[in-house]
Amino acid sequence: MEINCIYKTNCLHGLKNIDDESVDLIFTDPPYYQKRAQNIKNLKNHKDVVTEFKFDGYASEEEYLQFIENVLHECYRIAKNGASGYLWCGDDFVSYINRIVEKAGFRFRKVIHWHKTNPFPAIHSRKMFANSMELLVHFSKETPKTWNHKPVNEMHNFIESPICMGKERKEHQTQKPLKVCIPFIEISSNENDLILDPFTGSGTTAIAALMTNRNFIGFEIDSVYCEIIAERFKEFLLQNKNFQGKKPKIK
Ligand SMILES: C[S@@+](CC[C@H](N)C(=O)[O-])C[C@H]1O[C@@H](n2cnc3c(N)ncnc32)[C@H](O)[C@@H]1O
Repeated sequence: MEINCIYKTNCLHGLKNIDDESVDLIFTDPPYYQKRAQNIKNLKNHKDVVTEFKFDGYASEEEYLQFIENVLHECYRIAKNGASGYLWCGDDFVSYINRIVEKAGFRFRKVIHWHKTNPFPAIHSRKMFANSMELLVHFSKETPKTWNHKPVNEMHNFIESPICMGKERKEHQTQKPLKVCIPFIEISSNENDLILDPFTGSGTTAIAALMTNRNFIGFEIDSVYCEIIAERFKEFLLQNKNFQGKKPKIK
């Protein structure tokens, strides 16, 4: 398959076309299971509530978890020995995800906590704490081969940043800030490595790969989001006129 390309398709189909043991790092953010969020009154219509997600083709929680497991099985086949994987999830699903990565053959390593410094405030009448944390599950195929250690105080399983805002923010409800993705990509991959993101969304992993001189391959099922990715590629190339790598594409 062509690299530095986002394929406009269901990842479960697309992943089958990637060769065994060809990917150095998996960095992804699957759709969250929305039905739970729908059951929580007043949580609708706020960008920061990441469990509120438009794409929800899963009839039941079991089907959703089975879908994630199927994707992770394919990821395991495609990952090189020693590859790391990172998968975003909410606190309500993290223990399932930890088990599922192991069922797929990976080793669970650590949960990383992203503290959003500007969450939607807790509303008194809801009697719930503000949703200010998002979790990133780190796993690996055997022991990680690449581990580019940063200064010790940057190796915590905790990172702090506001939600994506300003010029970086696109019309995608669950866009992750580059700032909370790039450090993990740098630790777990080297320049020219290949990064896989089965759920590209607005293209954050692909942009992070371009910014750090890595290659990428990704899938995104929604054509509106593919247009956003195309726009981000254009912006990146405009801002980096001397970019030496292969031009990123949507197929
Ligand atoms: C949580 S979002 C990813 C957001 C991304 N991290 C970003 O920063 O923009 C998940 C994405 O997966 C896409 N998606 C859902 N099911 C998919 C599937 N079966 N294959 C490929 N993409 C899918 C959704 O359309 C959505 O854009």
